[in-house]
Amino acid sequence: MTGKGPLTHLIPVDLTHPLPLERWFPADRPLEVEIGCGNGRFLAARAARNPGVGYLGIERMLARVRKVNRKAELARLDNLYVYRLEALYTFHYQIPRHRLRAVYVFFPDPWPKKRHHSHRLFAPLFLNALWASLETGGEIQIATDDLPYFEAIQEVFANDARFEPAPPMERDEAEQTDFERLFRGQGLPIHACAYRALPAPEPPFAPLRITPDMEPKPLPGRDLPDDSFDKGDDHAQDDEP
Ligand SMILES: C[S@@+](CC[C@H](N)C(=O)[O-])C[C@H]1O[C@@H](n2cnc3c(N)ncnc32)[C@H](O)[C@@H]1O
Repeated sequence: MTGKGPLTHLIPVDLTHPLPLERWFPADRPLEVEIGCGNGRFLAARAARNPGVGYLGIERMLARVRKVNRKAELARLDNLYVYRLEALYTFHYQIPRHRLRAVYVFFPDPWPKKRHHSHRLFAPLFLNALWASLETGGEIQIATDDLPYFEAIQEVFANDARFEPAPPMERDEAEQTDFERLFRGQGLPIHACAYRALPAPEPPFAPLRITPDMEPKPLPGRDLPDDSFDKGDDHAQDDEP
């Protein structure tokens, strides 16, 4: 046995190559992605207003994925799709290079405790994948209620010469996310920033390296930091607005 025969015992799902996005989004139209799109309020409003633009939500909670799907079905939005997977992994392996015109991240989980900072999305590893996914001149728009995380996000971008600051977008009421409406209703300040991808040398592709400090660690009373993902279902609704 050489081990080079047909791969009859391989489960044929390829999660390490770019998604064939042209199956859902015409290749000649702009594509925008919202990471952690929650219930899809922003995406659905945006997709209805811009039928010539494709919108992809990336969200790991199944209950929220279902809600986005329902919104797209009810409004017959053929330019809106949602993908259930972890965002860093998706950007690193599955978004084709320089395909995205815009990326939106509204109210990302702030992981306020120092020992959990390694779970934050905004870190050099994500910026590598983000830059490789954006068109030159493409933008990321970010909003958060959490000032320490906001400052940390600004620092990560300030240390990466492949991005320059851009004007943060305005969102009218129809495009505000559920968390944004909750925080605005409580009178909390919303911090926003945006960055534009600049021309830079193309980085070689390297496998994603998860260091031991990035591994999910059990929390008291919970199986994993975010049990919604690993139980694969609708249990964790505790941060629902
Ligand atoms: C605080 S909620 C904000 C939801 C929405 N953006 C809003 O403003 O209403 C954060 C969302 O991001 C999702 N999320 C967090 N980390 C993620 C990751 N690494 N990949 C995909 N989704 C993620 C969570 O499941 C959750 O729905």
